[in-house]
Amino acid sequence: MKIIRLPSSNPAAQAQSAMAPSRRALLKAAGTLALLQAIPSWARAASPKLFDFNSVPLSEQADTVVVPSGYRWRVMAAWGDRLDGSGAGMPGDASHGATEQAALFGMHHDGCALFTEPGAPDRGLWVTNHEYLDDGLLHPGGTAGWSADKVAKAQAAVGVSVCHVQQRQDGGWTVAPGPLARRVTASTPCGVGGPAAGHPLLRTAADPDGRRILGTFANCAMGVTPWGTYLTCEENFDRYFRKAGQRTAGESRIGLDDKAMFRWHEHDPRFDADAHPNEPNRFGWVVEIDPHDAAAMPVKRTALGRFKHEGATVRLARDGRVVVYSGDDQRGEYLYKFVSRERYDARLKVARGFWGRLLDEGTLHVARIAEDGTGEWLPLTWGTGHLTPEKGFADQASVLVNARLAADAVGATPMDRPEWIAAHPASGEVYASLTNNTERGKKQPVNGANPRPDNAMGHILRIRETTGDAAATNFGWDVFAEAGDPQAAAAEHRGNLRGDWFGSPDGLWFDPRGILWTQTDVAADKLGKGPYARMTNNMMFACDPASGEFRRFLIGPRGCEITGVAMSPDLRTLFINIQHPGESPGERTDPANPMAVSSWPDPAFGRPRSASICIWREDGREIGA
Ligand code: FEO
Ligand code: CA
Ligand code: CA
Repeated sequence: MKIIRLPSSNPAAQAQSAMAPSRRALLKAAGTLALLQAIPSWARAASPKLFDFNSVPLSEQADTVVVPSGYRWRVMAAWGDRLDGSGAGMPGDASHGATEQAALFGMHHDGCALFTEPGAPDRGLWVTNHEYLDDGLLHPGGTAGWSADKVAKAQAAVGVSVCHVQQRQDGGWTVAPGPLARRVTASTPCGVGGPAAGHPLLRTAADPDGRRILGTFANCAMGVTPWGTYLTCEENFDRYFRKAGQRTAGESRIGLDDKAMFRWHEHDPRFDADAHPNEPNRFGWVVEIDPHDAAAMPVKRTALGRFKHEGATVRLARDGRVVVYSGDDQRGEYLYKFVSRERYDARLKVARGFWGRLLDEGTLHVARIAEDGTGEWLPLTWGTGHLTPEKGFADQASVLVNARLAADAVGATPMDRPEWIAAHPASGEVYASLTNNTERGKKQPVNGANPRPDNAMGHILRIRETTGDAAATNFGWDVFAEAGDPQAAAAEHRGNLRGDWFGSPDGLWFDPRGILWTQTDVAADKLGKGPYARMTNNMMFACDPASGEFRRFLIGPRGCEITGVAMSPDLRTLFINIQHPGESPGERTDPANPMAVSSWPDPAFGRPRSASICIWREDGREIGA
């Protein structure tokens, strides 16, 4: 692919966006860094107070959304709602078909973002991922009579939704009609960018050029680029394929097997990896969507590597290069960072679609974390070190398709399930959720960055890039917080949280004021049991990164996880996703009793539904303030 050449005299001052700190802030942050290294985090008081609301009591665990006193919430877009805001387009018994589902919001909302334009802070485009499926809830009768129609409906219920939203008189937001509303599903044609585009590893019988992939699914968390596009991240894509025969090293390493939880291969041969061995290579990528252009094809950006991407957190380096952080969410997997070769320049008035090419040329790195509080971003560059043909890597595309194998080869540090990554808007400090890993101490050795054996409660790692520049190749780190219940029976489950407690941190996002919003995803089979005996529902917290205090802002309905977070430009509306309310321990609802665990948000509807919700204050002031 031709390299784009952009002006090189482009300091950070010209590369500003909502995503990037100002140069002054960066310089200030560099001074702050020296301070941070000298003063232990527990001794740093928050001054002035970052947030001020009454913590939601732990006892308020019900089948609803509980927010602090003075706050209100409303469902904005639930599974099966129409994209124009005119309400439910599916019946309560879920007897609708694939064609209907393809025009409605999908299931299992996850990462999300609000795109607004300057001068119009009360309207915008809402984009939300639909991560996975509960076939017990999606179809009458669940998986009984499994059929091509049920597979087609499932394929229409995953992916991404784009819709218009608008603020109402009462302060809350609703979905509104508009020309850019659309669904991206497991069947939507996607382009391919970066070194793996057109590579033999991506070619299939249906796509001999390896440049046009049908669909995206397993869309977990996300990122937003400075040029106003949305990055949706393909995470547990392996569950959609079946591979019964001999597996290659790469297939084994990414988790392909004969289980195929979602059974798509039974009625769609594309998902039979024995017959179509390259089809799984076309998933596990970061996919760029331009929500402002309904005709623009989503593009899989292969330079960012193929693994179980949780999210894609974007920052600009001081010189304008684009940096993307991404975790690979599985036990013992790695933290990655992509640094573009060329620079973003907000002064260039070019079409939004132009800038996506920055994500096609650059260097993918993986983190190696040392015990002395330092770490390195190791480049996954073909032809260097172990990444050679003799070691099984034919070219850069094979390094990217098999990013886990490449990261193994360079000696990356296995982590406790990397989930979301958030970067502080001023200092650039990077916070990574390591949600839990009960295999720590068994399959991976305990180390400083993953300090607890049988880590059932998870922790948050903090990374400070050397010199504060996002493109740095070295960093310092500390464990920002160990999650846990201070009253837990076992010491390793108690943690060291300040303020309110939780376990299994997952969603992490900084608002522009520097509040670290933290969301939990305790699995349905763990809620209310063992170390989670006092936590029966998932939750969301505000955290002051200076003091380390977490304060409980919200408790979700039964069986849900809280995931995805965004704010209106005036900071007066918070948007989150309630995913899989009513999920049972087996992740699949009993179709005969869909409301066994939860009936949220509407008991009269007939089944629980994932939804995007908005939260605002009765007094109209900023969220959390
Ligand atoms: Fe989709 Fe790792 O959460
Ligand atoms: Ca997650
Ligand atoms: Ca999770």
